[in-house]
Amino acid sequence: MAFRHLLGIADLSAEDAVRILDTAQSLEGERKAVSLRGKTVVNLFFEASTRTRTSFEIAGKRLSADVINVSSSGSSVTKGETLLDTTRNLDAMHADVVVVRHSSSGAPHFVAKHTRGAVVNAGDGTHEHPTQALLDAYTIRKHKGRIAGLTVAIVGDIAHSHVARSNAHLLNKLGAHVRWCAPATLLPARAAEMGVQICTSLDQALDGADVIMMLRVQRERLVDVLIPSTREYSRTFGLSLKALARAPKDAIVMHPGPMNRGVEIDDAVADGPCSVILEQVETGVLVRMAVLQMVAS
Ligand code: CP
Repeated sequence: MAFRHLLGIADLSAEDAVRILDTAQSLEGERKAVSLRGKTVVNLFFEASTRTRTSFEIAGKRLSADVINVSSSGSSVTKGETLLDTTRNLDAMHADVVVVRHSSSGAPHFVAKHTRGAVVNAGDGTHEHPTQALLDAYTIRKHKGRIAGLTVAIVGDIAHSHVARSNAHLLNKLGAHVRWCAPATLLPARAAEMGVQICTSLDQALDGADVIMMLRVQRERLVDVLIPSTREYSRTFGLSLKALARAPKDAIVMHPGPMNRGVEIDDAVADGPCSVILEQVETGVLVRMAVLQMVAS
């Protein structure tokens, strides 16, 4: 294996990505393997998370690791302890794997420099969320039988999304055609350098799309000043049944969660027959099992 940490998709080879997907597939149905017995996995979460934190915990436990959860609110971070000191203390306790979620881009790279254990990026600022992209690729491959040659439309608040960036890297490496669709104010400054097709209308993004990935409008990042109104955004870029009818009938609908129902996606779509959103969550456990097993062994 060519990687010790999993800090982003940009540095991961296509071969290693496929190896992770294949390992995840081989772990389907596995409830209590012993591959991480005696290993300690620390989930170090400085930002709120439901899916990522829980699925890393389940993944570690299904491989018999000892899993410890540390969140900023219940830790000495609230007393002013630095990320460096937090990392050094976890290292002193011989954490074999540290899974890091942080609002600052690059925080997992910083942790990786100061610990002997392996580090997995669980989402850092606007940079990357590599295991989300891997679980998305797994879900797409399962439904479509392949990734190469597919058209994947990623729609929403791209500017603030680590998911959009990791997915663009991974889907490009695996041979898909990636579209980013957002109002100009919600596209990152250097979007054109990402090797994606930029779409300024939802119709353009949905035309011929095999996969539609909707992203949350990140209102905690003051997005409200970048769009005329939530209602207007929903009308132009939200996925309703009417909008979905303009995509191919066999298109699948994805969302990394958490969803703003009624903003970027309507209930009828999120809970409808094209949605694979809960399958993404299910798949997340398998992919994280594969990643933990690969970095810890
Ligand atoms: N998809 C995702 O990262 O969800 P959480 O923020 O709940 O972990």
